[in-house]
Amino acid sequence: MKKLNVRDIAKRKGENLQMLTCYDFQTAELLNETELDLILVGDSVGNVILGYETTVEVSLEEMMVFGAAVKRGAPDKFVIVDLPFGTYATVEAGLENSIKLFQKTKCEALKLEGAYPHECELITRLTQIGIPVMGHIGLTPQSVHQQGGYYLHGKSESEAERLKREALALEKAGCFSIVLEFVEETLSEEITKSLKIPTIGIGSGQKTDGQVLVINDLLKMGKKMPPKFCPPIADIYEIRKKHIEDYLKGRKS
Ligand code: KIV
Repeated sequence: MKKLNVRDIAKRKGENLQMLTCYDFQTAELLNETELDLILVGDSVGNVILGYETTVEVSLEEMMVFGAAVKRGAPDKFVIVDLPFGTYATVEAGLENSIKLFQKTKCEALKLEGAYPHECELITRLTQIGIPVMGHIGLTPQSVHQQGGYYLHGKSESEAERLKREALALEKAGCFSIVLEFVEETLSEEITKSLKIPTIGIGSGQKTDGQVLVINDLLKMGKKMPPKFCPPIADIYEIRKKHIEDYLKGRKS
């Protein structure tokens, strides 16, 4: 399968783009051999790999290590890496940290959460120097404390209006695509129709231009049940546990 670039992604508006997260070299090698369109080295690495309580704890150095490992394993995929919490609190800091992350990981694009004026300005500046940016609105886990938990966004009229404005602002700023996380389904569809760039949904219904899921949830790699919008297609946790237990029995008999 041909490696996508930002122009190919733009052409896939309305065509069901598939993105999965990935955090390690071996899984990246596997995904590299599949039909998957996009890989995201999400800061969800903090939750599923590092065992942090929130993504707020993830550092730039950690994203550099995981981003570079995934890119080494998936040279034929368009890989996006998350800018972690606090690294783009100002435009200048955002520029400096984005350049470091982009150069060090060799990923094809960055993703950042939010659509405040300084974030839109940063996106414009990054695209001007050649760094493609994916936006992310709705539930933005880096703001979990400010948002007051994890819940469905866009249920009230004022919130829906704000999300529509944010999506348009991100498109105008230069994003090549936007993640809509846990956004009310009809609103996601409306936002998707209002934009020229593709939207990628997670827990936001099926009417976006693509879907992203956390691979560890999809395969149920962990002990905890994944969120309702991601029914697992396997139970890798139980499979691995059983193999280890059988191995240990064999060693003792
Ligand atoms: O970090 C992440 O995995 C993400 C996705 C949930 C979109 O941002």
